[in-house]
Amino acid sequence: MEPKIQSRIGSLELNNPLLTASGTYGNGREYSNYIDLHCWGGLVTKGLTLESRSGNSGIRIVETAAGILNSIGLQNPGIEYFIKEELPFLEKLKIPVIVNIAGRRIRDYEELARRLDPFSTVSALEVNVSCPNVREGGLAFGTNPGLVYEITARLREITTKPLIIKLTPNVADVGEIAIQAEKAGADAVSLINTLMGMEIDVERQKPMLGNIVGGLSGPAVKPVALRMIYQVYRQIKIPIIGMGGITKGEDAVAFLLAGARAIALGTVNFVNPKAPLEIKNYLLDYMRRHNFSSLEEMVGLAHRERED
Ligand SMILES: Cc1cc2nc3c(=O)[nH]c(=O)nc-3n(C[C@H](O)[C@H](O)[C@H](O)COP(=O)(O)O)c2cc1C
Repeated sequence: MEPKIQSRIGSLELNNPLLTASGTYGNGREYSNYIDLHCWGGLVTKGLTLESRSGNSGIRIVETAAGILNSIGLQNPGIEYFIKEELPFLEKLKIPVIVNIAGRRIRDYEELARRLDPFSTVSALEVNVSCPNVREGGLAFGTNPGLVYEITARLREITTKPLIIKLTPNVADVGEIAIQAEKAGADAVSLINTLMGMEIDVERQKPMLGNIVGGLSGPAVKPVALRMIYQVYRQIKIPIIGMGGITKGEDAVAFLLAGARAIALGTVNFVNPKAPLEIKNYLLDYMRRHNFSSLEEMVGLAHRERED
């Protein structure tokens, strides 16, 4: 029998565990000429704010030895445009759509949740409390356990949609933040957002990015992401959506074994738009080889007592 790769995040049912990572896939339309979007378990949209934002000025993406640094600064057309112009496209998709939201103040997040609540196309909210690239991009919330509790609790009162809190790796103790999200009623956490970094142009003797600092993503961050997921898995019961540097099937399997119930692909989409198809095939083959009949059997398996 074919192994079952369906996954569940709270009440959200996914045909397979692969999601797009917010901000690396637009709202899906941009990729729809290259790939059938239905190969994904779900689509996570670009970070949405109340007002439209043009993002940061100057250079916004720099390639590094094993990934990229970005300081886009949450460029997006704002919620009104999103509802009018983007939702109709997303409505036609037959996969869950998870809308990623960000704001300056807690009441911005509340307003976004309120306005998105009536739309059945919005299957879940991913709450970005971890953007390192704008001064008020949520990182101030995401590094403070008390504020993560507060923002989650407030949103919990506003919406019955699954709430996924996106955590930042730019903290000393990611577990403590995950615990607060769980306590306040989150259905899941996703991690990791990008790691703060910078690059310097030695000829110009200046920082490369217009914003000076940016967020590192891609293969370089994978071991950090994996460690954080492994750690958080031991501290909370709600599901984890894992991301950070996944480029191939082995990476995806490692994230599941560390404790992720779903995984998101980000930077790899810029290099290999077929990555979700390759990873899905690898996963099925891996499950057959190891006699796993469902994904459930694999999640967190790396936490077994060591036998050697
Ligand atoms: C260009 C770019 C834009 C991003 N924009 C967002 C965003 O709007 N909201 C968000 O929560 N994360 C955003 N992220 C973070 C990704 O969703 C993901 O957490 C991170 O890149 C790690 O995964 P990866 O190594 O597979 O890219 C962005 C990442 C990149 C590279």
